[in-house]
Amino acid sequence: MMRTIHLIMIGAFVFLHAGGGVAGAFHPDIYHPRVPAELLEKLQDMDSPYPATPERIEAGRKIYFGKGLCVTCHSNDGKGVKLPGHSPRDFTDPKWQEIRTDGEMMWVLRNGSPGTGMPVRVGKVISEEEGWSVIHFIRTFNKSQ
Ligand code: HEC
Repeated sequence: MMRTIHLIMIGAFVFLHAGGGVAGAFHPDIYHPRVPAELLEKLQDMDSPYPATPERIEAGRKIYFGKGLCVTCHSNDGKGVKLPGHSPRDFTDPKWQEIRTDGEMMWVLRNGSPGTGMPVRVGKVISEEEGWSVIHFIRTFNKSQ
């Protein structure tokens, strides 16, 4: 009995995380943009309004490991835990770090990544300013720096 319930729960989890039934921007290529095509240019021009000072990065680190709950999926080293369906991004990947702009990341923090387990964060568990801080912190995972 317990085993059946367990299997049903795993099934539901895989379904949700594989994007079952959710129409969205999900793409199996991790470098492919996550934002809607019509917003891409505008978001790529959008920079963080805050400079990446050590204080700002430290504030972002606290959010990543604290109330943002980022660490539960993205792990201590930024490489991400293995999840059923589509796993989180490897933040240490220099190619991804170079391709993805701050403005695109902010869109994902505000909207989640449709069709994946990446949840809405800004406006729900963290503020917009905290979102920019955590983006500055994510940049510190870049292996090429
Ligand atoms: C429940 C698990 C989960 C939590 C919690 C979570 N993420 Fe994610 N995140 C994911 C998954 C899965 C992906 C991969 C989505 C994709 O491929 O589009 C992802 C992708 C991302 C991306 C990359 C999107 C892109 O454009 O390539 C960023 C940036 C990100 N997360 C930031 C965060 C931050 C910051 C937090 C905390 C405030 C957070 N995530 C919390 C699961 C999570």
